[in-house]
Amino acid sequence: MNIHVKQDEAAKECRLDDMKQGILGRDVSRPDGLPKVTGTAPYAAEYKIDGCLEGVIVTSTIVKGEVTNIDASSVLDMPGVEAVIDDPRLTARAAQGTAGEAPAQPARKVGYFGQPVAVVVARTFEEARDAAKHLKIEYRVEDDAIVDPEEADAEAQGDGTKMGDLAEAMNSARHSVDVVITTEGHNSAPMEPHAAIAEWDGDKLTVHASLQMLNYNISELADSLDLDEEKIRLIARYVGGGFGSKLGVSEETVAACVAAMELQRPVRVVMSRQQVFQCVMRRSETRQRLRLAADEDGKLIGFGHEARVSNLPGEEFAEPVLQSSEFLYRGENRLLELEVARIHRMTAGSVRAPGEAVGMPALEAAMDMLAEKVGIDPVELRLRNIPERHPAKDLPFTDHSLAECLTKGAEAFGWDKGPRKPMQKREGEWWIGTGMASAARVHNVSEAKARVTLKADGTALVETDMTDIGTGTYAILTQLAGEMLGLPVDKVLVDLGDTNHPRGPGSGGSWGAASIGSAVFVACEAVRKQVAEKAGVSENELSLSDGRVMNGATLTDLLDGADISAEGHYEPGAISEDYTASGFGAFFAEVRVNRYTGETRVNRMLGSFGFGRVLNAKTARSQCLGGVTWSIGLALTEGLKFDPRDGHLANCDLAEYHVPVNRDVPEVEILLLDGRDPLASAIQAKGVGELGMCGGAAAIANAIYNACGARVLDYPMTPDRVIAAMPENA
Ligand code: MOS
Repeated sequence: MNIHVKQDEAAKECRLDDMKQGILGRDVSRPDGLPKVTGTAPYAAEYKIDGCLEGVIVTSTIVKGEVTNIDASSVLDMPGVEAVIDDPRLTARAAQGTAGEAPAQPARKVGYFGQPVAVVVARTFEEARDAAKHLKIEYRVEDDAIVDPEEADAEAQGDGTKMGDLAEAMNSARHSVDVVITTEGHNSAPMEPHAAIAEWDGDKLTVHASLQMLNYNISELADSLDLDEEKIRLIARYVGGGFGSKLGVSEETVAACVAAMELQRPVRVVMSRQQVFQCVMRRSETRQRLRLAADEDGKLIGFGHEARVSNLPGEEFAEPVLQSSEFLYRGENRLLELEVARIHRMTAGSVRAPGEAVGMPALEAAMDMLAEKVGIDPVELRLRNIPERHPAKDLPFTDHSLAECLTKGAEAFGWDKGPRKPMQKREGEWWIGTGMASAARVHNVSEAKARVTLKADGTALVETDMTDIGTGTYAILTQLAGEMLGLPVDKVLVDLGDTNHPRGPGSGGSWGAASIGSAVFVACEAVRKQVAEKAGVSENELSLSDGRVMNGATLTDLLDGADISAEGHYEPGAISEDYTASGFGAFFAEVRVNRYTGETRVNRMLGSFGFGRVLNAKTARSQCLGGVTWSIGLALTEGLKFDPRDGHLANCDLAEYHVPVNRDVPEVEILLLDGRDPLASAIQAKGVGELGMCGGAAAIANAIYNACGARVLDYPMTPDRVIAAMPENA
């Protein structure tokens, strides 16, 4: 039985709150937790496959030009070497998420330093790696590569937003801020590097890979290999983080497939950490100009946000820096423009919360400057500028929780609403200060399919190709199905990450939980309908808990040997066009800044978040904790450093690219404001994954200013930048 629901209307009547099992929303532990921490959950590279060869990717040592010759004979005699694959399909992969379109990089062309150009296959990894180092490659070099976004030509991205006259508003405003803020490039740095094992049995390709969106990845792979989708099975049951870097198929997967098909042997390709940095993708650096014009009460009359990002020539993706700026605050005179500089660094793509991750920290630092000029509390400034409707599109909002997040967060943090002045508190060498920022992240839902089977033995099985990239998909789908079918969590098995299952939406853009959750919900409704029929009651009367119907007969008795199965198909409908939907939040931070070294330590941080229904308090909190941790990295330590001469990435490992570690992350408090957003999805939930990092860095930046008076305009705020901006040095 299949059931298709297109959501054109609000999910006002949602059965989920009337269910009796009582597991949804609770802090249920991940069913995948134990296998993961005991090492029995296999990640892509860990499948034991007999006779598996090892492939190592070879990357370009030039920035721009063409591969003219790959001399396989230079390594074929080395120990263990089986083959050198220099198939043009390796270099011709389609850009992220653009299955069916022409590849941005024509075969054999080199567009950046570190671009994969060949793969060496050997019996062991060490032999392959050794040979890869010795492979002789000749290039024709083009020496006109521009690697600095400030020196490159830029093109406008879309039409932007132009309303009223921002320049005039800035001139006539009582208070205004006009500031340029920059952010550096970022790497997704998932714990599990990109990896794949491909097996070709002459007719069918089975691929274990570390990917976020199998439903799309299978088409991308089919395109790259010029193979029918039906001939491919993609499996990604466990994914050790992706953060956007595994949204699309990248070279390790294509390389493993090409090699397996050519050699008729299974082939594994795992990227080194350096390769993950050098050739998967980067978050673009940004330069952002913020112009805020306010009246005497701090109400915005003008709002300008212009940003320059970069990408390779021909690539479509542009870091959507202005995404939440479009609707977060009022201001009738608006100018929002995004431009893309064309440069020869590796492809820029989605890295955790593309857009808001860097746009919000800039906007929220500028808002702090405005609050100071107006002379009001920064929380109050935000409260006064929450618009009734989308200021440019004039659309209503779905559930809007910014005000609640701001006030509840401030209260829980113990925010001092008194007049704020920098350099008021010192402990020994350390200046102490506080800062805050709003959080916002657009909400997305997408089409999703899942099969739910209530088995005759009284257990349930949920099947979809949806992935769990560490976010908690296994847990929330277990809870949803358990709640709807009246089963405890240990009676529900969730089977994910296999393209043989109904197609899910994949994990990306924080749409996973709301989308696949809605598909499972829809499937469960269909199963319940059949259970109700068997029980001789209406579906509304049907009450299921602990495997019993109406606290009487067991489901096993009722089913009498026959499974009940349904495939749920959820699709967002008209409401996604008619409303503006976003998750909201607020961050509060206390920092200490060393007056001599400029070092910043975060003393404590609090985030409050509203995103509709909380499906699992534990995994949602974990997502937010992760977001705050990313915020600390963005604020203080993370930044890609490119050599200005040839654009090669200089800090391409975790020793040189500094993600925050335990000692950098203090006690973090997370407030989840459980709510219901009937316009967001069938289960009244919105995405939370990325929300936790959208703006958090500004709370730290604003706290640095409050502590020591240093208004640093470039993220990350490393000690040298803080020292230079201290009042005595500025
Ligand atoms: Mo996300 S950056 O869409 O995984």
